[in-house]
Order: sequence, then C-alpha cells, then structure tokens
Amino acid sequence: MFERLERMPDDPILGLMAAFRADADPRKVDLGVGVYRNDRGETPVLEAVRKAEQAVLARQTSKTYVAPIGNAGFNQCMERLVFGEDHPALKAGRVRTIQAPGGCGALRVGAELIKVAMPEATVHVSTPTWANHVPLLTGSGIKLERYPYYDAATGGVNFGSMMAGLEKLPARAVVLLHGSCHNPTGADLSEAQWREVLALVTKRGLIPYIDMAYQGLGTGVAEDAFGVRLFAAELPEVIVAVSCSKNFGLYRERTGALHIVSQTTQSADAILSQLVRIARTIYSMPPDHGAAIVQEILSNDGLRSAWTDEVGSMRNRIASLRQDVVARLAKSAPQRDFSFIERQRGMFSYLGVNVDQVRALRERHHVYMTDDSRINIAGLRSDNIGYFADSVAQVLAGGK
Ligand code: LMR
Repeated sequence: MFERLERMPDDPILGLMAAFRADADPRKVDLGVGVYRNDRGETPVLEAVRKAEQAVLARQTSKTYVAPIGNAGFNQCMERLVFGEDHPALKAGRVRTIQAPGGCGALRVGAELIKVAMPEATVHVSTPTWANHVPLLTGSGIKLERYPYYDAATGGVNFGSMMAGLEKLPARAVVLLHGSCHNPTGADLSEAQWREVLALVTKRGLIPYIDMAYQGLGTGVAEDAFGVRLFAAELPEVIVAVSCSKNFGLYRERTGALHIVSQTTQSADAILSQLVRIARTIYSMPPDHGAAIVQEILSNDGLRSAWTDEVGSMRNRIASLRQDVVARLAKSAPQRDFSFIERQRGMFSYLGVNVDQVRALRERHHVYMTDDSRINIAGLRSDNIGYFADSVAQVLAGGK
C-alpha cells in the first residue's frame, strides 16, 4: 500500500525552520517561521504564563477527559477577550465557542463546519495569504478562490481592487479576512476600510471568516479586534478562528478557539452540536494544558494585567524594530525605498526581493526568509540588524 506514496515537498515555512537549524554558520539570521523573539533571539515563556502554569499544576488533581468543546471556562474567557466585555452578540447569546488545537485546528474545524452547512461553498482568500491557509481550508473539501489584496508598489492594501473583487462574489461566498497583522504582508485594513468592507459584505450577503492569530501584536489588544467586534455586532453570521500561539507564546501547547456568531440562540446551539461532532470525528478533544493557562491568566486580574504588559512589550519591540530596520536599509540600500515596513503591523512584511535574491540571501549570507520574501521582523536583533541590512544591500547590488 505505501510503496506507491511519493515524497511530499517540505512545508514552505516549517521546512525553512529545519534548514535554519541545520546551518552551522554563526552569522545566520532566522526571519522564517513566525515566532516572536527577544533581543537575544529567544522565544521565552511569558512570566504570566509561567505563573499561571504553576497555579494550574498545583490545583490539578486529575488528567481525566475534559470534553470535545474543551475547557468551558477558557471558551468564555476567549469570547470576552476577542469580542470585548458586553459585546451585543455575546449578550444576545448568539456566540458559540469550541476550544481548538491551535489556530490551525480552529481554521480547519471552521472549514469543516462550512462544508457541512454548504457543501458547495467557496472560500475566498486574499492575494497573498498565509501559505497554510490553502491546505488547511481545502483539506475539508471546500473550494478556494482568491481576491486581490496587497499592493506591492505601496506596501499597503490595494483597497480599490479588493473591493472590486469582493463586489463580484455571489451571495453566501465565504471571505477569509485577517483580523490584524496580515500574514504574510503586514498590510492591514484601517477602521474606515473595515466599515466599507462591512457595508459590501452586508449588501452582497457574503459570509466573513476572520482569522485572528496576532491579537495584541499590531496596535493593541482591543484595537486589533476592531474588525471582529464590528462584524459580530452588525452581521447575522461570522466565523472567527483565534490562536493563542503568538500573543500568549503558547506555540507548542496548541491553544486556539473557534467562535461562531449566528442569528439566533437556536441556530447557535445547533452549530455547537455540529462543532462537537466535527471535533469528535477528527481529534475527539483538544489538548488541555495551554487552555487552562490562558483561562488562569484571563480570569485573574493580576495575571491579566501582567500579560497585557508583556504583549505590549512584544508589540513595542516589533514596532521599534520596524523603525530601526527601515533606517538601516535606508543607509545600506538608499536606492530602494523600504519605508513601507514602518507603516505595516505585526510580525511580517514582504521585503519585496525576488526569489533568486531570497536564495542568495540564504545561501551566501545565511539570512533565512520564505521564498516570497516574507520576513519575520521579530527575528531581527540589535546584533544582527546591521548585518541583515548590509546583506540585503549586497544582494540588491548583485554582489556577494
Ligand atoms: C507562520 O506563519 O510562520 C506561523 O504562523 C507558523 C506556521 O505554522 O506557519
């Protein structure tokens, strides 16, 4: 049976992570996989997480099963974090939440739900979008199309083309939007643009599916959820997949949630029963540990405020790296304008170099980024940012 299987190509992001680990050059710079790093290049366990973990372990008396919906307390905390306290959709009982194995698990469960509700569904993703959106969503059997999004000339959103693309979609087309910190471009919608997209989605009867994997790392915890909160207040149906990997630093604990906003409490209950069935048929139940930590943090005022500060520090470090790298590149490569990097948000930007230049950066300078030239800004440090800018300048000049 297995003799016929062919070797799969490496994952574009995780394959790069393995190649970086195998590179023995001391100058190597990892701007590949999207994990936050401090100025020593470490991805530390957050202090709030460490404290919450100790409390969780001290209290835990059993490892018995929890449930396919996961930890109900975590789900409630996440609803308040994502939608905000007193959100009208929460007050009306229109939101149901299932804990999921990371943002990826949430995205896949959401896709499976769409497939059950609308077997002919097509989900429309931005051009470009996170590489793993494609296999995660289409793996459920739903179709995938693309709408215009990024404007390489300005480093911003090509909003006119985006709106023109969405305007053409049929009613009940699913539109995948990035809540904030667009992956891979860092180009986000402004609040005014979210409102315009809302008006179009309403007029065309489209179904928004919002992926929010970076809440707090863009402009602020509440600010980054602006689009989610607006859509959930104004629309009958919204799907929201959330990850706790980056903002809680819980990557390997696989902690995420899927929130479904629906029209009535009856439909919400039916949806939850479907989500339970989907979870049970794929992985039965999500892992508990990360969710228990997040619940502990969000339900304890002291831990929550410590966590809010830590997310703020991560966000500020990324913002100041953005300024710093633009200044360094302006000195090393003055012929090219990189100022767009400073206007973008979150962990990622497209550097805007071609694939040969990406390979030259990797092979000659040991600077790692994905082939589309996505860089993880948080991978820069005070002791490698100059080397990075000089390497880019040399590659742009066609030199070694
Ligand atoms: C990324 O985009 O690099 C992260 O979300 C990690 C991943 O799983 O791809």
